[in-house]
Amino acid sequence: MQEVYPKTIIACIEYVEKKFTDSRLFFGHGTTNAHEEASWLVMSVTELEEITLEIEQTFVVQLPQYLSIEKLAELRIMTRKPLAYLLGESWFSGHKFYIDERVIVPRSHIGEHIRDRFHPWLGIMPIQSALDLCTGSGCIAVAMALAFCDITVDAVDISVEALDVARKNIERYSLDKRVRLFQGDLFDALTPLSSYDLIVCNPPYVSTQIIQDLPPEYRFEPAVAFDGGADGLDIVCRILRECSKHLTNSGRLFMELGSAAMELEEKSPKTPFTWLTSSNGESAVLTLTKQELIKIQERF
Ligand SMILES: C[S@@+](CC[C@H](N)C(=O)[O-])C[C@H]1O[C@@H](n2cnc3c(N)ncnc32)[C@H](O)[C@@H]1O
Repeated sequence: MQEVYPKTIIACIEYVEKKFTDSRLFFGHGTTNAHEEASWLVMSVTELEEITLEIEQTFVVQLPQYLSIEKLAELRIMTRKPLAYLLGESWFSGHKFYIDERVIVPRSHIGEHIRDRFHPWLGIMPIQSALDLCTGSGCIAVAMALAFCDITVDAVDISVEALDVARKNIERYSLDKRVRLFQGDLFDALTPLSSYDLIVCNPPYVSTQIIQDLPPEYRFEPAVAFDGGADGLDIVCRILRECSKHLTNSGRLFMELGSAAMELEEKSPKTPFTWLTSSNGESAVLTLTKQELIKIQERF
């Protein structure tokens, strides 16, 4: 007997995309719309890395694969759980990571700047060491170690559970010798004299008000990963105050501020911040040199 279900990749994606669109899901955990999310689901289950013309024309989705796709799509709709948690995976800066609910789903704009090796901000500066502050799944630390193939990276998080996930990702990419994990509160996790050429950070920066209004998908993520206090800037300001002494003389900080970028500008209107523009036009990643940080740190 002939089974009737969408058998081509394109038909399968369109089928899931329609379900997602009709269910008014929120997309923001690694994808930005129903089509991207449906494509990710279908490609993950069918273990495809890309969809070429040949795959479009010849690949047949098997019935067990279709049933898995259907089940995952239903779960995504019924629970509103981000797809990354349902699949146990996420993509960041061109690499696949193991993900579960102990960490947020990687989506920082910093990923695209890592892929570009922070061009043109580092110039000819040689990079030997980097720090990923607030590492979560370890995605930034691992992506940096892969982009700069001879540097060492230290990665800090306050959450022991998050560090377990980061450890898995470091092992997955066999980076145990170049990426080290530290548990603790920001720079307190490190020795007072540790310094780095590059400090990269995606800190908790969401204000109390914004947290209350977030779509249901965000409730699956650890609160400690978002909570930036009343104006979102509690941790950001601590980093701005403490960062310079952990940078080498030619060192530089890159920090994502997302929704708190405007708050920071309003808090310190006279500070000439430099914002990196991401491919979607958002300017939410801040960069400062050690010398700039020394000049402004007292203001925070
Ligand atoms: C926005 S998430 C970023 C995770 C990861 N870097 C990413 O981009 O997907 C922030 C992370 O900061 C950690 N965190 C929160 N407060 C911290 C603190 N005081 N010291 C160190 N890490 C902290 C959280 O556990 C969480 O993993």
